Amino acid sequence: MIRIHMQMPKSAAREGHRTSEEKTMKTAIAYYSKHHGNTKKLLDAIAAADPSVTLIDVTEQPQADLSAFDRIGLASGIYYTNYAKQLVAFAQAHLPEGKDVFFVYTHGAPAGNFLKGIREVVEGKNCREIGQYHCQGFDTFGPFKLVGGIAKGHPDDGEIAAAVRFYETLGRE
Ligand SMILES: Cc1cc2nc3c(=O)[nH]c(=O)nc-3n(C[C@H](O)[C@H](O)[C@H](O)COP(=O)(O)O)c2cc1C
Repeated sequence: MIRIHMQMPKSAAREGHRTSEEKTMKTAIAYYSKHHGNTKKLLDAIAAADPSVTLIDVTEQPQADLSAFDRIGLASGIYYTNYAKQLVAFAQAHLPEGKDVFFVYTHGAPAGNFLKGIREVVEGKNCREIGQYHCQGFDTFGPFKLVGGIAKGHPDDGEIAAAVRFYETLGRE
C-alpha cells in the first residue's frame, strides 16, 4: 500500500479562505528532480494552483537569490537516503537566515529518515520548519530497473492533489 504523508502544525491544518497576508506572501520552491521528474510533478501542480509561486531548479539557477521570498520550499528526490547533494549545497549557500521553510520530497522506498542532512542546514540557518509533504516516486535505480522499477505510477493523481492541499493549508494560524 502506498501511504501519503503530510505534516504541519495543528494550527496550520484549519480549512478556510486565504487571508490577504497569505495572498501577498512570496513563496519560492528550490528543487532538484532528475530521476523521473517525480518531485517536479508535485511542484508543477502546486504552481498551477498558485501561479505566484516561483520554482527554482537549482541545477539551472545555482546562484538564485532567495532573500526577497517570505517562505522557501526545499524539494528533492531522495538519493542515497538523503536530499540530493546539489539541493543541500544550494541551501547551504543561498538559504537566508530566519525564513519559514517547508519540505516536499519523493522517495522510492515506502519510508525512511530522509530529512536529516537538509534539516541540519535549515536549523543551522535559524529557519522555522512549517511543514513537510512526501510520497513515493517511481524508482528505477540500480537493481530496481531489472524488475521494472518500484513505486510505478507514483506520484499518482491522489498524491499530487494531496501535495496541493498541503501547500494551500501551509502555515495557517
Ligand atoms: C541514484 C539514486 C539513488 C536513490 N536512493 C534512494 C534512497 O536511498 N531511498 C529511496 O527511498 N529512494 C531512492 N531513490 C529513488 C528516488 O528517491 C525516487 O525515484 C524519487 O521519486 C526520485 O525523484 P525525482 O524524479 O524527483 O528525482 C534513488 C534514486 C536514484 C536514481
